[in-house]
Amino acid sequence: MRLLLVVACALIDADARVLIAQRPEGKALAGLWEFPGGKVDPGERPEQALIRELHEELGIAVKEPCLAPLTFASFAYAEFHLLMPLFICRRWEGLVGAREGQALKWVFPKDLRSYPMPPADAPLIPALIDLLGA
Ligand code: C5P
Repeated sequence: MRLLLVVACALIDADARVLIAQRPEGKALAGLWEFPGGKVDPGERPEQALIRELHEELGIAVKEPCLAPLTFASFAYAEFHLLMPLFICRRWEGLVGAREGQALKWVFPKDLRSYPMPPADAPLIPALIDLLGA
């Protein structure tokens, strides 16, 4: 099966909340909440892809995104097998805004389970709670 490499980011604000974005109508998995990110283009480094995607989706320039140790999604969708490392980022330039019409929410890690997520993203929640000690 085809492997699809996607990067995702837990963007953490000063109150220790995490940003999630709702996938818009017309996209696969519409209505579900996800950690922002997207596909890694051919020849692109994962960190570059993360910087590009968060700029396109949120209008920010992330600084020093850090690959979370041993925290990645691995999920077999019908069309591809998704591999998705999770980055953690606490610093960015610019104001977070929805550049693609998506709803955004800042959520405390312990409350993330209240938001329906794609099957690849949901298992990242306990790992993230562990990592953040939240
Ligand atoms: O965001 P985009 O549609 O480019 O992502 C490609 C595919 O990766 C989605 O259709 C979805 O199956 C998967 N995905 C996911 N969780 C994310 C981002 C993408 O499961 N946070």
